[in-house]
Amino acid sequence: MCGINAVVGMGNITRALFEGIRNLEYRGYDSCGVALMDEKSIVIKKNIGGVEEFFRKEHVLEIKSQMGIAHTRWATHGKVTRNNTHPFASCDGRFAVVHNGIISNYRQLRDQLKKEGHSFDSETDTEVIPHLLEKFYKVTKSPEAALVKTLHLLEGSFAIAFISSYDPEHIYCAKRESPLMLGIGDEIKFIGSDFNAFIDYTKNAVIIDDGEYAVISRDSYVVKNALTGQEITKPITQLDWDSETSKKGGYPHYMLKEIYEQPQTVANVLGLGAAPLDELVEMIYESRQTHLTGVGSTYYVANFAKYVFAWLAREFVPATSSDEFVSLASVDADSLVLAVSQSGETYDTLTALKFAREKKAKTAAVVNVMGSSIARLVDKVILQGSGPEICVISTKAVISQMTVMTLLALRLGLKKKVLTKKAFDRHLAELGELPAIIQGILNERSGFIHRIAHRYAHTKHWLYLGRGMYYPVALESALKMKEVAYVHAEGMPGGFLKHGTLALIDDSIYSIVFIPPREDKDLHQSTLHCVEEIRARAGFVLGIHFDERGKNKDLFSEELILPPVSPLVAPFIQLVIGQLFSYFTATTLKRNVDKPRSLAKSVTVG
Ligand code: G6P
Repeated sequence: MCGINAVVGMGNITRALFEGIRNLEYRGYDSCGVALMDEKSIVIKKNIGGVEEFFRKEHVLEIKSQMGIAHTRWATHGKVTRNNTHPFASCDGRFAVVHNGIISNYRQLRDQLKKEGHSFDSETDTEVIPHLLEKFYKVTKSPEAALVKTLHLLEGSFAIAFISSYDPEHIYCAKRESPLMLGIGDEIKFIGSDFNAFIDYTKNAVIIDDGEYAVISRDSYVVKNALTGQEITKPITQLDWDSETSKKGGYPHYMLKEIYEQPQTVANVLGLGAAPLDELVEMIYESRQTHLTGVGSTYYVANFAKYVFAWLAREFVPATSSDEFVSLASVDADSLVLAVSQSGETYDTLTALKFAREKKAKTAAVVNVMGSSIARLVDKVILQGSGPEICVISTKAVISQMTVMTLLALRLGLKKKVLTKKAFDRHLAELGELPAIIQGILNERSGFIHRIAHRYAHTKHWLYLGRGMYYPVALESALKMKEVAYVHAEGMPGGFLKHGTLALIDDSIYSIVFIPPREDKDLHQSTLHCVEEIRARAGFVLGIHFDERGKNKDLFSEELILPPVSPLVAPFIQLVIGQLFSYFTATTLKRNVDKPRSLAKSVTVG
């Protein structure tokens, strides 16, 4: 939602602050601001726009400071204006605060503070915090004590960081439900919404838990419980991600770089080893009912998993979008809730898991970010090992999660004796070929997809159709098109088309149909039927299929022929095509690929 970064060090820290907040820009990029300690007073600079533009226009890098906080915003409370941009200062200018999350009781707090004479410049919930700190400092004469008193009043979810000119050597921060961690370097300390804020400087992180606050200085850090005031000894987490992986490495966009990393990220999943997977398989096996949940792309991964579990393990595993989970899912101590989340911080998915825990259900998750809230909340976590995904549009994380789900379904199928050992080994070998197959597609088909995307970039409406496992592929591919190219695209099961939507077919609505390999006889045939239904109404169809050239003569308006692959890996390949098609449509339409409008990578509010 928003990104927080803070740095205190020996020399000038403005460059470190800039690099950190730039690395967090995927969390939000409406506006940006910094508060820097200058001798014994605070300098605040802020403006609407992205991080680089802000630092350049406001000449921030020319300011010398040994301590500062920064924020990049994704607007929730209040429009995108300079006044609503963080940091916010107290009336006397002696406290400056950045915040991620929502202070749900801010209206009452603001009304009270106004009565007491405080004046407000913004429409945000955050602005109450510096005024509360100012108010309580007057009584306690200690920024730390003022923080504790403020925390007792705040309702909602937050990660906050602040500096005060009463204490020009320390930065204070606190967390409840929104992510926050410390980076521990030599003679330099960091606060970040995640480790991208400091991974270029240190791989030692201390993860702050809910209800804790921390105080850092250049050469020390202390974490305390906000209720009891007791100091907490926190373990240092060693980050195993490489800062180089977070760089664009010659690609025009992170999205393309991350699509091209998929052979590697799938290989990482295949190398996970049997033990963690089998522990989760055991949990699924032992549960009366397993529920899958995720939201956005991860909901589609959950849907994909529903099909592979049905096919390979004859297990019905319902998938529910996390934002609807509480209304729909009936869970108890015999249930397992298996969540999928790239960031591990998504509010809706966290809420679903907390609900499950309240009902005494077991919980598990497939997560990309180690140390994230979801990774720490659940009984069993599988870290998918995709490395940092910087582009707001999720690609490599999704394909990796689909691979994890397929491995789980295979192992459950073997355990339940739905699959013989021979069939299991064959499928495993097929999956083992996936990295090389994706690599081949990227090498050999990108140019063609680029040309097609260019040719049809001005299409206003797309229908994405698939049956069986190809239905979630259609949904996810359509979501990519909407998110990155801002083009209307609707995913639908192929068989559903004839129940009403066919009425839309004319020469203005274009269809993409994901066709399974011929080996998958019934599904292949029934998918071709829906192509015929569209063609009979003079509709345009881009067919993506594995058949030999000429086999479907004149059936498609445009076709993309893929090399023959096994039915197990075919949906993955189709999704890679869907990703590339959206990417090249977006570049043709000159969209802001890595930071599309109205979208944040990690949605930490409900
Ligand atoms: C947001 C993002 C989506 C993402 C979804 C789930 O909506 O914009 O791209 O799929 O959250 O995120 P998660 O980190 O939980 O996978």
